[in-house]
Amino acid sequence: MMSLETTVDGTTVLITGASSGIGEVVAKRFSADGANVVICSRTQKNVEPVAEQIRDSGNNALAIECDVTDREAVNRLFAVTAEEFGTVDTLINNAGTRVMSDFDTISEEEWKTVIDVNLHGTYHCTQAASEYLKQASGTVINFGLSSAAKQRGTPSLSHYSAAKAAVINLTTTLAYEWADDNVRVNCIAPGFVATPAVETGIGISAAEIDRTEVERSIALPEEIADVAVYLASSNSSHIVGETITVDGVPRIDEMPEL
Ligand SMILES: NC(=O)c1ccc[n+]([C@@H]2O[C@H](COP(=O)([O-])OP(=O)(O)OC[C@H]3O[C@@H](n4cnc5c(N)ncnc54)[C@H](OP(=O)(O)O)[C@@H]3O)[C@@H](O)[C@H]2O)c1
Repeated sequence: MMSLETTVDGTTVLITGASSGIGEVVAKRFSADGANVVICSRTQKNVEPVAEQIRDSGNNALAIECDVTDREAVNRLFAVTAEEFGTVDTLINNAGTRVMSDFDTISEEEWKTVIDVNLHGTYHCTQAASEYLKQASGTVINFGLSSAAKQRGTPSLSHYSAAKAAVINLTTTLAYEWADDNVRVNCIAPGFVATPAVETGIGISAAEIDRTEVERSIALPEEIADVAVYLASSNSSHIVGETITVDGVPRIDEMPEL
């Protein structure tokens, strides 16, 4: 009988936007599980300390300054990664940005920035990773919107929601296109996660969030990291083109009839 073993040990994972929040915690989790970790953000100053912490714990980590909206920079990111580790087994398109703004007041620049980072950044990185992922029979993990946000919309985040909805559709489409190359493409759709960005938005820090609230409706980034490791490992080999919601909210419309 085939034995199932959750492991990313010895694989190389590239995580965008890993200088803080979910990306930082995901990078540390993959590293703790034995993966070589390549992380990027827009400034070396922000992302290098995360790689240093990982190296201090005895694991391999490389920090590279890269703005995912810049295709040339993204190509360099993958070239350096391949030079250092030979391949990319898992790409995690985590880099994202959001600015609360009512639709009527969103400037052209704000709209384009949010679409550029969340959607075009995912496009740039995934296309640049293509040859490595196909060689490695690897995985892509994108970041989308929770089911509740998809169904009810997210007021004051129309640009962000539009970009994330596109990322979810890209996930499904690419999963079909790359199925014959044995590259799995999936997406994680968190609700609220206790990261600096959300803490600023809701006005309280993770430390101040009531534990019950954390358990009920605000996830810890570690809980997102658990799902990312699962999706990157062969334990999830039959999960393809899915968006997995991690928001602590039961799906009432999907409850079985009693
Ligand atoms: N937190 C939540 O509740 C939540 C919910 C649903 C989905 N998500 C998604 O989960 C992902 C992570 O969210 P988070 O809350 O952890 O965000 P965060 O704390 O704001 O972190 C965003 C990361 O992306 C980097 N970044 C921003 N723009 C970039 C660019 N153009 N190129 C490269 N890196 C860039 C930032 O680093 P620098 O500033 O150093 O560049 C930072 O490391 C995002 O895709 C977000 O949309 C989060």
